[in-house]
Amino acid sequence: MAAQAIDFLLTGAGQLVTADPVGSAGADAGLGLVERGAVAASDGTVVFAGPEADLPDLQLAADVTRVDAGGRAVVPGFVDAHTHLVFAGDRADEFADRLRGVSYEQTLAAGGGINRTVRATRAASDDELERSAAARLVQAGRYGTTTLEVKSGYGLNVADERRSLEVVARLRARTPLDLVPTFLGAHLIPPEFADDRAGYLDLLEHEMLPACAPLAEFVDAFCDRGALTVQESRRVLRAGRRHGLAPKLHANELGPTGGAWLAAEQRCVSADHLLFLDPAEAAAMARAGTVAVLLPGTSFLLKTGRAAPIQTLRQAGTTLALGTDCNPGTCYCESMQLMIALACIHGGLTPEEALLAATDGAAKAVGRGGRAGRLAAGSAADLVVLAGSTYLDLAYHLGVNLAYLVVKGGRVVASDGNPVALLDPAPGTRG
Ligand code: NIG
Ligand code: FE
Repeated sequence: MAAQAIDFLLTGAGQLVTADPVGSAGADAGLGLVERGAVAASDGTVVFAGPEADLPDLQLAADVTRVDAGGRAVVPGFVDAHTHLVFAGDRADEFADRLRGVSYEQTLAAGGGINRTVRATRAASDDELERSAAARLVQAGRYGTTTLEVKSGYGLNVADERRSLEVVARLRARTPLDLVPTFLGAHLIPPEFADDRAGYLDLLEHEMLPACAPLAEFVDAFCDRGALTVQESRRVLRAGRRHGLAPKLHANELGPTGGAWLAAEQRCVSADHLLFLDPAEAAAMARAGTVAVLLPGTSFLLKTGRAAPIQTLRQAGTTLALGTDCNPGTCYCESMQLMIALACIHGGLTPEEALLAATDGAAKAVGRGGRAGRLAAGSAADLVVLAGSTYLDLAYHLGVNLAYLVVKGGRVVASDGNPVALLDPAPGTRG
C-alpha cells in the first residue's frame, strides 16, 4: 500500500512534453505534448503524466514533494548518449591552435590529442580523476541531464582503463543521476604499441576486457582515420560481446571509413558522429536498429563545416539521439541544452527532432529506452522544469541555463541552476 502513495506531484505545466508515442497526436511531431500538464510519481517511477484535469484520485504520501510549475514548460530529463567524462588535464591550447587553423588530425599526429590526455590521465591520482569527473557530472546535472553514458578510453592499459571505470562506479554510488559505463579501451592504439597493433588488441581482449567488463555495460571503439581500422574495431566489438558488453561505435567522424557499415553488421546499439554517411549506410543502420548518435558540439567545434547528413538520416528512418561528447579535445561541454540548440542551428534538426533525440532517442542509445527520456506511466520520474513557457526556448534562448528545476527519480536535484542533491560530498560513501 505504502509503495503506491504518490511522493512526487507536479502540477501547472504550461506545456508538458511526454515524448510518449502513445500520447502523441501526430501534429506535435512525436513530442506527446500536453497543455496544462501534471506528473505524479511514486518511488521514482511515473504513475501519471498527462492533462492536469485528468489526474486521478491519488493517495499522497505524508512527505510528498509538490512542485507548481507555474505555467513553465516541462520536459523529460535529458539523456546524454555520449561522454568521455573521466580524464585529467586539459587541451585548451590545442583548441586555440584549431581556431588558428591547425586541424584535429594534425594535432593528433604530432603527439597531442588523445595521447596527450592519456599521459595526463595515467599520471593523475585516483582522487584527482574522481574529483574532475564529479565536477563535470555536477555541471551536466545543473543543465538538466539526468542520465549519461560515460566512457573510459584515456587509460589504454589494463590498470588505467580499469581505474577509469572504477571512478564511474564510485560516482554512481555518490549521485542519483544514472551513469551508463562504456569500455573504450579501443579509443586509440597507444604509442607504445605503434609497431605492434595486434599486440595491443591481444592485451585488450585477454587482459583489459576481463578486468573491465564487469564494470561496464557497453564496448566501444574509435573506428576512424588515424584510429582503429574496421577489422580492428570488429575484433574489439566481438570480444566485448563475448564478455557480455553491448556494442557501440565511434563511426565516420573523420572520413567515410566504413564504420557505419560495421555498426550495422554488428547490430550496434548506436553508431556515433556519422559526419560522413551515405543513404545506403543510413538505411543499413535503420534496418539493424542502430541508433544514430549525433554530436553537434563536436562537428561544430571541429570547424570542418560539416554536420551529420540529417536529410539522409530522416529518409532512412534512423532513430536519432544526441550527446555532448564531453571530452577535452573536440568538445568540452556538459550542456545538453546547448547540444539541442546546435543540433537545430548547425545540424539542421527541427526543435522537436532535437528534443526527442536528447530524451527518448538518447535513452534508446544507452539501453534505457522507455525507462528514461520519457514521461509516461512506468518511466523514470526524471524531468526538467524550464525557465520559460515553451520547449522552443531550448533552440532559441541560447547560452544560458534554462533548467529552473531538475528532478531525478522524483527528487529535486538542482534548483535555479544550483545543485541541491547531485553528488554526495562524503568520500566515505564509496561502495
Ligand atoms: O568522440 N573521436 C574520438 N574521441 C573523442 C575525442 C577525444 C579527444 O580528442 O580527446 C570524440 O570526439
Ligand atoms: Fe567520443
